[in-house]
Amino acid sequence: MRLTSCTDAFTLSNGNAIPCIGYGTFETPADEARKAVREALEAGYRHIDTAAIYGNQEAVGAGIRDSGIPREQLFVTSKLWNTERGYDKTLKACEQTLNELGTDYLDLYLIHWPANRKQFGDRAQELNAETWRAFEELYKSGRVKAIGLSNFLPHHIEALVSSAAVMPMVDQLEVHPGWPQAAAVRYCQEHRIQVEAWGPFGHREVLDNQTLVSIGRKYGKSSAQVCVRWALQHNVLPLPKSVHADRMRANIDVFDFELTDEDMHVIDGLRDLGGSCSDPDAVDF
Ligand SMILES: NC(=O)c1ccc[n+]([C@@H]2O[C@H](COP(=O)([O-])OP(=O)(O)OC[C@H]3O[C@@H](n4cnc5c(N)ncnc54)[C@H](OP(=O)(O)O)[C@@H]3O)[C@@H](O)[C@H]2O)c1
Repeated sequence: MRLTSCTDAFTLSNGNAIPCIGYGTFETPADEARKAVREALEAGYRHIDTAAIYGNQEAVGAGIRDSGIPREQLFVTSKLWNTERGYDKTLKACEQTLNELGTDYLDLYLIHWPANRKQFGDRAQELNAETWRAFEELYKSGRVKAIGLSNFLPHHIEALVSSAAVMPMVDQLEVHPGWPQAAAVRYCQEHRIQVEAWGPFGHREVLDNQTLVSIGRKYGKSSAQVCVRWALQHNVLPLPKSVHADRMRANIDVFDFELTDEDMHVIDGLRDLGGSCSDPDAVDF
C-alpha cells in the first residue's frame, strides 16, 4: 500500500492496524513529556512509543488525555523492563504500566530486551519463554491488543518461537542509516514480524552525515526526513523522537517525496554514522 500520511497503517500479522510512524519518548523527562505528547498528537501523530524504564508513563498518559483524542483513535505501545522478566512479574508489571498510563489496554506490549546468555547462562531461553507465556496471557485476555519483542535478533526469536503459542507481531530494533541491521530486518519480514526502527536518527548522531544532507537537498528535505523516509521505504516503522513541535511536524512531513532506488542503495551502504549499535548479547543491563 502507498503510504500518504503518518496515520496510514501497516498491518500486523493478527490483522491489527499500526500507524506507520510512531512518536518516541525515550529520555523525555516526566515534566516535559505531558506537553510533548500533547503537541505530538496535535502535530498529527497517532502512535506513541513509551516504556516502563523511561519513567514518564504517567506524563505520557496525561498528555494523551490532554489531547482530547479518543483512546480508540490512538495506538499506544509500552515495554516490559528487564528487571520484571518471568511470568508473574510480567503480569504485575503490565498492570502497573496500564495504571501509570491511565488506560485499560495497550495496543502493543514488547519485551524490551532479550534475557541473554551473558547474564543468565543456560536459563536465558527459559526466562524469555516464561515472560512470553505471560505476554500470550495478556494478549488472550485483551489487556494488550498485540505482543512483540524489542532488540531480539533472529537467533533469540528462533529460540522464543520454539515454545510459543502466539507468534510475535513486532520486533523493535535499532535501525538507521549506518546501522541497517539488514539480516534481522529480512528475517522479520520473512516471518511476518513488523520491524520498528528505534533511534531512527542514531540518537541524532547520523543527522550531520553529508551524504544524507546532500541526498535530502535534492528533494528539498532534511537529513532527518531522509532517515524517516528511508525506513518507510524498507517497510520499517520509524519512531522519531523530538520535544520540539517544529521538528515533530517536520519528521512526519515525508509523504511528498520518494527516494530513488539509487539513493536507497547509497544509504543502505553507509556505515559507522553513530547511534548506540549495541549487541543484545553483550549488554549487561
Ligand atoms: N526499544 C529500545 O530499546 C529503544 C531504545 C531507544 C529508543 N527507543 C524508542 O525509539 C525512539 C527514538 O529513539 P531515540 O529517542 O533514541 O533517538 P532518535 O529519534 O534517533 O533521535 C532523537 C534525537 O534527535 C533530535 N532530533 C529529532 N528530530 C530532529 C530534527 N528534525 N532535526 C534535528 N534533530 C532532531 C532530538 O532532539 P530534540 O528532542 O531536542 O528535538 C533527539 O536529540 C525513542 O524515543 C523510544 O521511543 C527504543
